[in-house]
Amino acid sequence: MKILDQPEESAPSPGSAISYAGLIEKIEILRSTLRWSSKLERPEIEKLLKQASSLRDEVMQLSHKERFVQAAVAEPKRVDLTPGARRQGLLERSFIFEGTFGDNPKLLEALEIAEKAAPTDLPVLIDGESGTGKELMAKVIHANGSRADKPYISVNCGAIPDNLLESELFGHKKGAFTGASNDRKGKFESAHTGTIFLDEIGELPLSGQVKLLRVLEAHEIQRVGSDEPIAVDTRIVAATNRNLRQFCDEGRFREDLYYRLSVIHLTLPPLRERRDEIPLLLAYFGDEAAATLKRRPVKLSPRLRDFLKGYDYRGNIRELRNIIYRIACLAGDMADVEHLPIDIRPKSALSAVMNDVQAGGGVIAGATSLSEAKRTASDEAERAFLERGLQEVGGTVAELARRFEMNRSHLQMLLKKHGLHSKDFRHQAADKA
Ligand SMILES: Nc1ncnc2c1ncn2[C@@H]1O[C@H](COP(=O)(O)OP(=O)(O)OP(=O)(O)O)[C@@H](O)[C@H]1O
Ligand SMILES: [Mg+2]
Repeated sequence: MKILDQPEESAPSPGSAISYAGLIEKIEILRSTLRWSSKLERPEIEKLLKQASSLRDEVMQLSHKERFVQAAVAEPKRVDLTPGARRQGLLERSFIFEGTFGDNPKLLEALEIAEKAAPTDLPVLIDGESGTGKELMAKVIHANGSRADKPYISVNCGAIPDNLLESELFGHKKGAFTGASNDRKGKFESAHTGTIFLDEIGELPLSGQVKLLRVLEAHEIQRVGSDEPIAVDTRIVAATNRNLRQFCDEGRFREDLYYRLSVIHLTLPPLRERRDEIPLLLAYFGDEAAATLKRRPVKLSPRLRDFLKGYDYRGNIRELRNIIYRIACLAGDMADVEHLPIDIRPKSALSAVMNDVQAGGGVIAGATSLSEAKRTASDEAERAFLERGLQEVGGTVAELARRFEMNRSHLQMLLKKHGLHSKDFRHQAADKA
């Protein structure tokens, strides 16, 4: 009896898990097993039942996927619509954004896939660089699904020591190991009827991957130290900032598990590929930071705004958010590049002056008291700042006042104080041209 000989934990190959041909083959084996056996013992019946259930799950999975694909094909081509219309469409269909901001086509595409995947129980794999919003997307999927009012349990697979992994995920029985002083539920049991978010799935050791695969196939777990199977019904959303396909090639991630988890695969683009969203995010996080810190929103100088629009954000949206919170904490009414973290701050004329000041040279060398040194350094910084500004605008004071968001007559007064003549900078600009 071929089917009975299959090892229980063996995973269907990626193809057979989601192909009709693979399913029919398995059903045929099951049929012939039943047809030719004169008598079945109870354990064999149990085994066959288990295999029939697993087949049923695979059929369900396939049919969900089919419906998903059909819905996608039947849809009018959303990418032809403007981003505003696509977002509006989501809103009209009562999509829950959970605070996800942005109109970038790649982000909208991810949201539209999430919209369709949410009501199904299909596993979703979300990948993308650190800080691109993977966890937020997992919450979006949960919130838009039929399990929204059921538990949402998040597990960071990278943060659990190998020896505690099984107990953390599946729970344990009292006395199962030293320190197991009570029966304890694992994350899968806690997520029963709801969603389990397996974050940093790429960090799961191979031993944990085998165990996870078994849960995905059998929909049941066993607490450590117990033989009793416990049925669990959880929707799985996994996330990683690793390239799991490459991990599979390198033998670091099981390919069968990869296919099981990635029935729906969402990739979130890095922020540098959706720069068009930066102004919106600056405003959004600016307001959020102001509300959190109970202060008025900080204005950004044009120079700082330009910097933030062009910066590379290796930490993606999380980094942008942290920068805005920092600025909201450190700046007065107006923030400028000096409020940026030192490691990303552009080297400017101003910082050159400050370096000079720190080195104790130049401008403060003749100061005889601390207050005089401070005043001199501050005056010098102010002058360098104005000078560079005038150079940048080719000596047009009105433009400089606009850039600095300063009153024009106040600016004129400062220029006079430092003996700066705007026409000198107009000449410089003309000479260069
Ligand atoms: N499109 C977005 N709109 C608004 N906020 C966002 C968006 N994407 C991400 N964020 C915010 O950015 C921060 C980082 O997002 P999240 O934790 O989901 O990233 P991640 O991809 O899971 O990162 P990591 O890989 O480091 O775990 C969070 O504060 C989240 O709320
Ligand atoms: Mg995360």
